[in-house]
Amino acid sequence: MLAVVTGGSRGLGLQNAKDLRALGYDVVLVASNEELLTRVAQEIGAHYRVVDLSDLDKTRQIFSEIVQSYGAPDVLLLAHGVMSEKMSKTLRTTTEEWRRVMAINLDSTFVIVNTVVPAMAERRSGRVIVYSACLGRMSGPGNAGGLAPYRISKAGVNALVRNLAHETGLGARGILVDALCPNHTRTDMGGPDAPRSIEEGAATALWLATRSFTPGSDTTGVLWEDQEVIDW
Ligand SMILES: NC(=O)c1ccc[n+]([C@@H]2O[C@H](COP(=O)([O-])OP(=O)(O)OC[C@H]3O[C@@H](n4cnc5c(N)ncnc54)[C@H](OP(=O)(O)O)[C@@H]3O)[C@@H](O)[C@H]2O)c1
Repeated sequence: MLAVVTGGSRGLGLQNAKDLRALGYDVVLVASNEELLTRVAQEIGAHYRVVDLSDLDKTRQIFSEIVQSYGAPDVLLLAHGVMSEKMSKTLRTTTEEWRRVMAINLDSTFVIVNTVVPAMAERRSGRVIVYSACLGRMSGPGNAGGLAPYRISKAGVNALVRNLAHETGLGARGILVDALCPNHTRTDMGGPDAPRSIEEGAATALWLATRSFTPGSDTTGVLWEDQEVIDW
């Protein structure tokens, strides 16, 4: 079994990569910091590819190479992401900040899925799991505005996941596509005072990667939090 994990150098992605290695998966880690990625890949016995995901042409090239070298993954787990600047309200942020966050959080997600998932769909098996955020929801708590590029990039990720899930038959053709909200977690992004440990934050993605699924009775193409479906 093969898992490709973005954001694999640290935080939630690295935790999921460690968990999947422990379950016997071959893992390919992707991140941009070469020094860190080389070290953690060695530590957990994973393959790795270095790419700055804001470079969309390079991203397409690297993920094509991954599929060529290792084949279509069983699990494509997208755990990369950047937060937008503190004062990034819609009327205060800049085009540069908007483009930076959209490119990394949303555009690269499209390019990766568009490059990798055709081979999974052709094989008729695989799981696409995308870290979204509760801040990207259009319902529930946390809709108070602010952090506009981040929130809107994650709302876009949610739409992409839902669209792709429907386009691939909502599990009927062997492909599961889901988004999740890890909740506020103690990573570099979440900060040291966040209420959740990395293990707690990463648990739902690991479950999505490994759960049993029966088309017709189980659900895919939705947003998950603590292994429960929540409204978008
Ligand atoms: N932590 C939370 O409280 C929280 C809450 C809700 C949602 N999330 C979401 O969960 C996911 C994981 O978050 P985290 O807390 O684990 O974040 P993190 O600790 O800050 O790690 C972010 C990961 O993304 C990679 N990354 C960032 N920019 C990149 C780029 N330009 N090119 C390639 N890789 C890049 C980083 O690798 P390099 O630095 O090596 O590039 C790193 O591996 C994100 O999508 C985040 O939005 C997190």
